[in-house]
Amino acid sequence: MTDVKGAAVAAQQKGADEQSAGAAGKPAERSESAEGRRVGAVGWRPRGSSRVRNAVLWDALRTVLDRIAPEGPSDVVDVGGGTGGFAVPLAELGHRVTVVDASPDALAALERRADEAGVTVKAVQGDAVDLPDLLGSDAADLVLCHSVLEYVDDPDAAVRALTATLRPGGSASVLVAGQVAAALHRAVAGHFDDARHVLTDPDGRWGDHDRMPRRFTRETLSALVAASGLTVGELHGVRIFADLIPGNLVDADHTAAGRGPGGERAAEALIALESAAAVHPILRELATQLHLLAHK
Ligand SMILES: C[S@@+](CC[C@H](N)C(=O)[O-])C[C@H]1O[C@@H](n2cnc3c(N)ncnc32)[C@H](O)[C@@H]1O
Repeated sequence: MTDVKGAAVAAQQKGADEQSAGAAGKPAERSESAEGRRVGAVGWRPRGSSRVRNAVLWDALRTVLDRIAPEGPSDVVDVGGGTGGFAVPLAELGHRVTVVDASPDALAALERRADEAGVTVKAVQGDAVDLPDLLGSDAADLVLCHSVLEYVDDPDAAVRALTATLRPGGSASVLVAGQVAAALHRAVAGHFDDARHVLTDPDGRWGDHDRMPRRFTRETLSALVAASGLTVGELHGVRIFADLIPGNLVDADHTAAGRGPGGERAAEALIALESAAAVHPILRELATQLHLLAHK
C-alpha cells in the first residue's frame, strides 16, 4: 500500500470509527438478554448520527441475515472490518464473526471493543486478496466488504478472493464510496472544478489532493462484482440526504437541536426518507455510499 493510500485508510478508519461508534448500541426491542438474543431476525438500534446514517445498511443486513440464517447463527467474515463497527454488533446477535484486516492497530481496537461488549470476534491480520488462504474456500455464509475496495491495490483480486470464501448460497455485502455524490458534495462546497473532475476521472477522484484512491458508480461496482462470478443483487443508496443537510438535523442524540421529541421525530422522518430513497432508481445513485448485495 502506498503512503497516500495508508494515510487515506487511516483517515477513513477514523471516520468509520466515528460513524460506527453508535452501531454497537443497544439491541432493539426484539432482542432480549445476552442469552435470549435471537439470531438473524433481530433489529439493531444504533444511536445518534450513526443510527440515521447507517439505518439503510443495517436494514439490508437484517434482510440478508434473515434469508441466510433464519434459524441459527451464520459464519460472517468482515474483510477490512477495522475496529468492529459492524463485526461486534453481528457477534452480539450470535453470529460467528471473523474480521480480516491489514491493520494490527485496528484489530487491537476491535478486540477491545469485542471485550467491552462481552463477545468473541476472531481477528486475523492479513490482506483481502489472501482471504481463501487465510480462512479457506467456502468458509462464510456472509462476507462484508465495507469501505475497503476504495483502498486495496487490486479491487478485482479482492472481490475474487471474497467470492472464493463464500459458500454456495452465501451473500456478499459490498459498500463503497459513490462517485456521483463526491461531485455533488464538492459542488455544494463551492469547488466546481473539483466537482467536474470527479465526474470524468476514471477513479472518481476530484484531484491530486483527494485522499480517496477511488470511488464507484453503480455501473463500475456492478461490473466489478459480476466479473467475480457473483450474481448482482439489489443496490441501495446509503446517505443520500444525510450528508447534504445541516448536521444538527442528523445528530439526533448529540445536539441541542436534536434533543427531545422534536429531534427524535426529525431523525425518524429522515430515516424513513433515506429508506425510501435508498431503492429509488435515480436517487440511490446520488448516495455518499453505494451498497450492493451479491449472491453466490
Ligand atoms: C475505512 S476502514 C473500514 C472499516 C470497516 N469496514 C467499516 O466499515 O467500519 C478500511 C479498513 O480496511 C482495511 N484495509 C485496507 N486495505 C486492506 C487490505 N488490502 N486488506 C485488508 N484490509 C485492508 C484498513 O486497515 C481499515 O481497517
